Amino acid sequence: MSAAGPPVLREASWRDIPAMLEVERAAFPDEPWDEASLWAELAARPRRGYVVADRPGEPGLVGYAGLDLADDVADVMTIAVHPQARGVGLGARLLDRLHHLARDAGATSIMLEVRSGNTVATRLYTTRGYHLVRTRERYYRSGEDALVLRKELDT
Ligand SMILES: CC(C)(COP(=O)(O)OP(=O)(O)OC[C@H]1O[C@@H](n2cnc3c(N)ncnc32)[C@H](O)[C@@H]1OP(=O)(O)O)[C@@H](O)C(=O)NCCC(=O)NCCS
Repeated sequence: MSAAGPPVLREASWRDIPAMLEVERAAFPDEPWDEASLWAELAARPRRGYVVADRPGEPGLVGYAGLDLADDVADVMTIAVHPQARGVGLGARLLDRLHHLARDAGATSIMLEVRSGNTVATRLYTTRGYHLVRTRERYYRSGEDALVLRKELDT
């Protein structure tokens, strides 16, 4: 997978759902979204915005990310990079694309929740301008806390 050129980001389509599911299961092996959830997410567009990353000429996807665009505060729904495509900037590119989508939709800030033990994702967010708003204690079924993070999009 790593021998090909850099991934290309584009808007998700219905046809991407099987490949999104593969990335989802690889990225969140413990509690992946199921196929119905992905259909529901794409059905909720334009309130939802989804972007996928593929390598032209290669099957499948290497990542995807989604956004809720309800009002002036957008919410990151998910961001996932296939384990074989990590560590080379794709997560940061997907997040940056979500920021652009949110700004284009008129949002002035963006929020997300991340597991307190997810140090890689937390570092991705904090190095890109997110700050801690609050901690939701024992928010996840596992008993793990959720960190609620926010970024102002005009900064
Ligand atoms: C979080 C995730 C999307 C990052 O994707 P990625 O493509 O590997 O990320 P990038 O290569 O763009 O790196 C972005 C930042 O993440 C952090 N990061 C990446 N790999 C890291 C590592 N191994 N250790 C620590 N921080 C790391 C760094 O801050 C990095 O920025 P920098 O290179 O400027 O320092 C990916 O690990 C993933 O899909 N994880 C499983 C799903 C998940 O947890 N999603 C988030 C749910 S809230």
